[in-house]
Amino acid sequence: MRFYLAPMEEVTGYVFRNVYRELFGDIDKYFTPFLSPMEKKGFKNKDQKEVAPENNQGQFLVPQILTNQAVLFGQSVRVLYGQGYRECNLNLGCPSQTVVPKRKGSGFLADTEELDRFFDEFFSLLDNYGFSESVKISVKTRLGIADPEEFRKILAIYNRYPLSEIIIHPRVQKDFYRNQVNTDWFAYAQRESVHPLCYNGDIAAVSDYRKLTERFPTLDRLMIGRGLVRNPGLIAEITTGKKVTRSELSAYESLLYLGYVRAYGEERNAIFKMKEIWYYLGDLFEDASKELKQIKKAVTGEKYRAAVEALFAACPIRETTASAED
Ligand SMILES: Cc1cc2nc3c(=O)[nH]c(=O)nc-3n(C[C@H](O)[C@H](O)[C@H](O)COP(=O)(O)O)c2cc1C
Repeated sequence: MRFYLAPMEEVTGYVFRNVYRELFGDIDKYFTPFLSPMEKKGFKNKDQKEVAPENNQGQFLVPQILTNQAVLFGQSVRVLYGQGYRECNLNLGCPSQTVVPKRKGSGFLADTEELDRFFDEFFSLLDNYGFSESVKISVKTRLGIADPEEFRKILAIYNRYPLSEIIIHPRVQKDFYRNQVNTDWFAYAQRESVHPLCYNGDIAAVSDYRKLTERFPTLDRLMIGRGLVRNPGLIAEITTGKKVTRSELSAYESLLYLGYVRAYGEERNAIFKMKEIWYYLGDLFEDASKELKQIKKAVTGEKYRAAVEALFAACPIRETTASAED
């Protein structure tokens, strides 16, 4: 199995990826959270930092772009190509109300004719730039807006273009992250897609992984997001049976905190970022509600560190083979 780290806006930025790689190092492909190129101005400073080669040493990193304009996508790929990137991913999955009404992310799936025109124009542009052979274009997609039946048309469009792979999160936009993932539609895609497929969604424990691979024995690529932020030792547990240790989790937490302090040059924003990490990581500890409340309340580095130390000292690690759903 090849393992990919899912892009998660505000979570799996370069600080996270570097810490993950240093401590666990078992990801085959990293993806940036979506970058939103602007007309004329190109990438914002924040997005430039996200892909700057010096911030991403040693990672196989795929920049992800959120746009519905073929020219902007083409220009972005050209800039990234110039920085050495040989694969770019198009975000057709984001369900957020800040992007969907603009017909971006999963919102773009609402207009399949426009999506078809977009790919047609984009791949002609790549040909004109002369590097359609040397850059791979993948997509990360949901099944549609409201009804998975929409995916028939969407997949037929993907089948018409030279995509390198399709990462499917088998939910529709209206599900956001609720409801069950729709594995029947992943099965449909496996039958009908001419491109290699990667599965994504709700793998939080070894038992989830087993269930998935029993259902899809030929699956050879899997993207995980929340499950890895919650338990960064999940892939090792899947592949070797070895469970994450307290000292690994402690190193994960402290290197992330230090990384954010260094990136922001101060503690307040770093603590804010760590609270997002604890939203997932906290779930790995038993009987931790009191300690997690202290972490949530902390606004100074001193209070934050004390709360984290109290949690590591007092709370046992949950039985991680249990699925997040159990
Ligand atoms: C906080 C958050 C931010 C996300 N940001 C992105 C993003 O920038 N690009 C993207 O394609 N998907 C994004 N996603 C979706 C994830 O990549 C992934 O598809 C989803 O979480 C399901 O996988 P999981 O169950 O393994 O987490 C985000 C999800 C979350 C929860």
